[in-house]
Amino acid sequence: MDNFRITGNRKLSGTIEVSGAKNAILPVMAACLLAPGKSVLRNVPNLIDLKTMSHLLRVIGARIDHNGSTMSIDAKDICFNEAPYELVSKMRASIYVLGPLLARLKEARVSFPGGCAIGTRPVDLHLKALEALGAQISIDHGYIHAKADKLTGADIYFEKSSVGATINTLMAAVLASGQTRLLNAAMEPEVDQTIDILVKMGAKIEGKGTTTLIITGVDDLFPVEMTMIADRIEAGTFLVAGALSTEPVTVKNLRPEHLGSALDKLREAGCELLIGEHEITIHPPSEIKPFNLITLPYPGFPTDLQAQFMVLATLAKGMSFIEDTIFPDRFMHVAELNRLQAEIRLDRNIATVRGVGKLSGAEVMATDLRASAALVLAGIIAEGETVVSRIYHIDRGYDRIEEKLNGIGAMIRRENG
Ligand code: UD1
Repeated sequence: MDNFRITGNRKLSGTIEVSGAKNAILPVMAACLLAPGKSVLRNVPNLIDLKTMSHLLRVIGARIDHNGSTMSIDAKDICFNEAPYELVSKMRASIYVLGPLLARLKEARVSFPGGCAIGTRPVDLHLKALEALGAQISIDHGYIHAKADKLTGADIYFEKSSVGATINTLMAAVLASGQTRLLNAAMEPEVDQTIDILVKMGAKIEGKGTTTLIITGVDDLFPVEMTMIADRIEAGTFLVAGALSTEPVTVKNLRPEHLGSALDKLREAGCELLIGEHEITIHPPSEIKPFNLITLPYPGFPTDLQAQFMVLATLAKGMSFIEDTIFPDRFMHVAELNRLQAEIRLDRNIATVRGVGKLSGAEVMATDLRASAALVLAGIIAEGETVVSRIYHIDRGYDRIEEKLNGIGAMIRRENG
């Protein structure tokens, strides 16, 4: 397993670019199963999670070609309706094939995604919604078995805002007969991009950008081309890198309108932001101010940036409070940051961070995707050397992060472990 060896105390400056959004590409790849023929996606980075999804779609019968940043998905001959354990256990987002397979093949068997490092993550909302559309669902030897000769539109209220359940249900409802109304639907930009591709394919969906989506079923969908949105979480990670620096950093190829709550927190911490149409230049403060943060569904503060902002809080002058309401167990990075001499106390899902002004290098372990990014940021600014092990987590969601950060002054070496 590869490690990152990071030489600390680096001053960052310059320009860094953001890639396409993993969490939009994963559902969009699954949505391509609904349109027989070849769809083309642009601005697709090279990430392990996208390779896992490609593998899964090939198992199902699609032909995938990923060349540079263009991916083509030919879903003409979808024949196999099973998502096997070995792939679903690698990546929870494999559950996204459930809705499309059910809509197109009338039957699907998808391995139950287990828990993961950020806590138990049920799929009950996905299953309840598909049942409401007329699917018969049973659980058998760790597999979800869904069957529906016919899907029929229904009113579905999600008791919790869920990105995955909203998208999975949308992908089934677009080919159902009649009208479906999704209430308390998630509004994340990744949901919007999935709606955009479905509508381009011929689906009828109203209410994009709101919590009520109205879908009128159609008989067929057609393959399309689409450019993927910038990854708001990668962008937020690089903005925190800028906030931790002493010189301005420009983050390019992003969508500022997707980052509102994170930008507010950066300002609260004392950063000055110059916002362009597709780029933001961040001027770090001479002294980071403490801040309080609570993760919420979009447009609230994203849980996927909680760990990175915690690194910023470790350098603030004073106490910060960070609460995760989306994944209350998502605090594996706390113990690792404390190894770098941070002072963070955890009480259930609230972390109290006493700013220490300086971190100090140590050996730490990446535990999940976003926690790994936080440890890399911490390593860059800590005194001395930090070794982050198990970085395969970071390769799941960040394309060449060490090359990109080294381009603005970091010193990160990948070592084959
Ligand atoms: C997606 C993102 C993930 C992000 C999360 C929240 C992808 C591939 N992953 O995950 O990076 O952290 O959104 O923004 O896009 N829940 C249930 N039952 C369900 C489904 C969800 O109780 O059936 C709960 C979850 O445990 C969590 C909350 O709902 O507390 C939100 O989860 P959800 O939005 O579904 O997250 P994912 O789609 O899995």
